[in-house]
Amino acid sequence: MTGRDRALMLGHRPVTVWLTGLSGAGKSTIAFRLERELMSMGHACYVLDGDNVRHGLTSDLSFSKEDRRENIRRVAHVAQLMNDAGLIVIAALISPMNEDREMARAIIGTDSFVEAYVSASANDCAKRDPKGLYAKAQAGTITSFTGVSAPYEPPTNPELLVDTTTLTEADSVSRVLDHLRQHFLLQR
Ligand code: ADX
Repeated sequence: MTGRDRALMLGHRPVTVWLTGLSGAGKSTIAFRLERELMSMGHACYVLDGDNVRHGLTSDLSFSKEDRRENIRRVAHVAQLMNDAGLIVIAALISPMNEDREMARAIIGTDSFVEAYVSASANDCAKRDPKGLYAKAQAGTITSFTGVSAPYEPPTNPELLVDTTTLTEADSVSRVLDHLRQHFLLQR
């Protein structure tokens, strides 16, 4: 069976939407809503969310630069396998370093990798602080916290920019869906 046959059967090309951005930028919210909408359209997909995978697949890893890289490497390999099995994957990981995201792109395959920068400033994310982590990071209770005491390198040339300081949740998801419709989803 060729890739084209498979895509026709599935109604989509199985790609990975890689959501990168600061903690609190809206990655998980967008990921799970996008999953719901894709599933309701009949597209089988699966979310790989940093907070969730860190309970199992990568529970042995810290937030050091090296461990974040390993976290991203493992998730990218799982995403690649899931793509191979026909699923659209939505990966929501801070993935702060350009070179680590480029590694993910290489593992998944550049034609199947959609980098979406979920953008909100560290100040905005700290104001939202849904998990109270920015307060803890500022107090020094947690260390190496992205945007406070660890770096975040914004993507230089992402396939998609989703600015959650100006877009609503629904519009953010539509932005990603429109891109998928234009490039990867086939008419059912
Ligand atoms: S990544 O940098 O390795 O890509 P990942 O997305 O898996 O990070 O995990 C980020 C989540 O872990 C955050 O949303 C937050 O809930 C939690 N977290 C705990 N400690 C830290 C930290 N020091 N830096 C960033 N996130 C942290």
